[in-house]
Amino acid sequence: MTAWPYPRWIAHRGAGLLAPENTLAAFRLGAHHGFRMFECDAKLSADGEVFLLHDATLERTSNGRGSAGDLTWAQLSRLDAGSWHSPGHAGEPLLRLEALARWCLAQGHMLNIEIKPTPGTEARTGDAVAREAARLWAGAATPPLLSSFQAEALAAARLAAPELPRALLLHTWTDGCLSKAQDLGCAAMVCHHPLWDASTVAQVHAAGMRCLSYTVNDEKTVQKLWALGTDGIITDRVDLFYPQSLA
Ligand code: G3P
Ligand code: MG
Repeated sequence: MTAWPYPRWIAHRGAGLLAPENTLAAFRLGAHHGFRMFECDAKLSADGEVFLLHDATLERTSNGRGSAGDLTWAQLSRLDAGSWHSPGHAGEPLLRLEALARWCLAQGHMLNIEIKPTPGTEARTGDAVAREAARLWAGAATPPLLSSFQAEALAAARLAAPELPRALLLHTWTDGCLSKAQDLGCAAMVCHHPLWDASTVAQVHAAGMRCLSYTVNDEKTVQKLWALGTDGIITDRVDLFYPQSLA
């Protein structure tokens, strides 16, 4: 098994539902609750900037409209990504990966960058995110973990920055998923949590990879996953799982 420098707890989109997802306000809140590692969703603007947004479209989490990947960063940077969440977050801007990287590095926090391509841009996004991450974390003690549901994005990331650890995200367990992750040189599989049982954990560990889960928000599931010997949990509930051990 390769080295694994990451803590067991990862805060989903910064602070889950407690602040506008993927904004600096969310990462600050997650850190305030004691989390040292964060998951975020990264995609490309029309002019090739890597920025954070979960959906392909802007409507749910900003006052913009349409496909986010069709706008330049200059256009995206003027949007309000906080009012949809709550009045106190009005005016919160979208975040570039570069700004989050600088904050993480300054604070000593770790990052899981989920490559979330606008449909049709899988390879280009994987390539760009990996290059940007390699540039931003050059010389850092702990590299970011790159993950994706899209094998094409991970393959492109591997070509661009083979030294950055990768993880395959899985919503359903399919024949061949293990060899797919191995072929991509993954260090981990990050599964929808019901996929883990004694058999899947044993298979992934035997293949030399770590077993992580998303998105786990209740204590009973947490206990089941630790009892199975899984290695990490991504949660929205930064309030619920603090202050238990965040090792
Ligand atoms: O990276 C884990 C998790 O975030 C994957 O699902 O839809 O929340 O990005 P989603
Ligand atoms: Mg995600």
